[in-house]
Amino acid sequence: MEKVIAESAQGTALALEKNNSNTRKLYIESYGCQMNFSDSEIVASILSKEGFNTTDILEDADLVLVNTCSIREKAETTVRKRLEKFNSIKKSRPHMKVGVLGCMAERLKSKFLEEEKIVDMVVGPDAYKDLPNLIQEVDEGRNAVNVILSKEETYGDVAPVRLNSNGVTAFVSITRGCDNMCTFCVVPFTRGRERSRDPQSIVDEVNDLWGKGFKEVTLLGQNVDSYLWYGGGLKKDFTNASDIQKATSVDFSKLLGLVATAQPKMRFRFSTSNPQDMTLDVIHTMAKFENICNYVHLPVQSGSNRILKEMNRLHSREEYFELIDSVKKIIPDCAISQDMITGFPTETEEDHKDTLSLMEYVKYDYGFMFAYSERPGTAAARKLEDDVPFDIKKRRLAEIIALQRVHCQERTEQHLGQIQEVLIEGTSKKNEGHWMGRNSQNTVAVFPKENYKVGDFVNVKMEDCTSATLIGKAVGYSENN
Ligand code: SAH
Ligand code: F3S
Repeated sequence: MEKVIAESAQGTALALEKNNSNTRKLYIESYGCQMNFSDSEIVASILSKEGFNTTDILEDADLVLVNTCSIREKAETTVRKRLEKFNSIKKSRPHMKVGVLGCMAERLKSKFLEEEKIVDMVVGPDAYKDLPNLIQEVDEGRNAVNVILSKEETYGDVAPVRLNSNGVTAFVSITRGCDNMCTFCVVPFTRGRERSRDPQSIVDEVNDLWGKGFKEVTLLGQNVDSYLWYGGGLKKDFTNASDIQKATSVDFSKLLGLVATAQPKMRFRFSTSNPQDMTLDVIHTMAKFENICNYVHLPVQSGSNRILKEMNRLHSREEYFELIDSVKKIIPDCAISQDMITGFPTETEEDHKDTLSLMEYVKYDYGFMFAYSERPGTAAARKLEDDVPFDIKKRRLAEIIALQRVHCQERTEQHLGQIQEVLIEGTSKKNEGHWMGRNSQNTVAVFPKENYKVGDFVNVKMEDCTSATLIGKAVGYSENN
């Protein structure tokens, strides 16, 4: 993936292993965040038990599922365009059924059936276990909708089918939903209240992945630092938990320690952290375990205290700097990345300059930057006018992207001359003779293949770079191999 990007909602078609005893063909396409891609693996697992065999050829599908994203308007427009394409195929395959999953399903509910006639089934992110019943309804000629959000569902008991996998890196989801209510964000409405998954089921999944040859796991949640297990239930109900539940509870730093100890040779990453919830314990745990990568994605959204407040981000610019200082002090070679929004309602040129100066202070390794997109139903949409003109949003966006490019180049150059451990993920896209992998900081590195293979941990001498890619030469296996 491009390290400096303005829009990440790219669709990817996925195919799962063929199972010859199955009879119907499923084509599943995912948009948006990593959580959606991970959810599609859960959906594929649930449907494989129902006799669905997947295909990566849309024209062969009996059932087409599209796992959707609502985060920005553009993500929704992309999905609607895909529905037009499915419609054209349905003309020659009238028995083909189309289901919409994920955040757009949750946001639009049964309205989707009226707005897009092609859609037969609308299923929200907490209702995937109901898919067998919903498909039966569709088979019987009725449209089917389940958008009920759950207080408990974590899919902890579903073993995901790894889709489109490189066999080396995998995602493991640890929380669902989000309680933070950032005023611009639709996620709390589409994914519901925050709940954490039983740590034992997380460790079991990690052990299973290791047994299958996977070497790196990214723990996923909308807000991983807020992970809290006390026997199940909503995060917000923890205050009513019993003394025993409180004493034996597992927070995010403990969870990191559990997985890192369970598989000491496996690499661990996590995403996403929220500055208001990240504790020093987490940073100390990262420092303590060699196998937890030195990389945090720490979105800030804006450098202006006034805008942070309007966004309901519960920390100030100064508190964010304190956190960044702690990360850099405790883990000097830690990479840090950001998400930023330009043109949030009322944002002035002064606020924008605050964002640029915050970026200068942190010098992020990578960034994901977006122009504000008003989302229906959010607090910002209800209370604030979307008053920054589109061309100003775009100009500010271009400025922060340009600055991020400079920082990205600087940060990548800092690795030059070092020997770093790289986990080989596959062949480089640009050169058949080179492997591609990542160092601990998540920077992509490429180097001549020699006799190494996918899944090897290799020490690589970093000799040259582009703005986001290191070019090196392997000097041997790393100790971890
Ligand atoms: N905590 C989440 C954030 C999900 S949204 C996570 O796991 O990544 C990802 C990013 O999209 C946010 O950090 C924010 O920068 C951006 N975003 C969210 N809502 C937006 C909106 N209405 N307009 C523009 N960008 C938005
Ligand atoms: Fe959205 Fe803020 Fe949660 S960005 S996902 S409400 S932390």
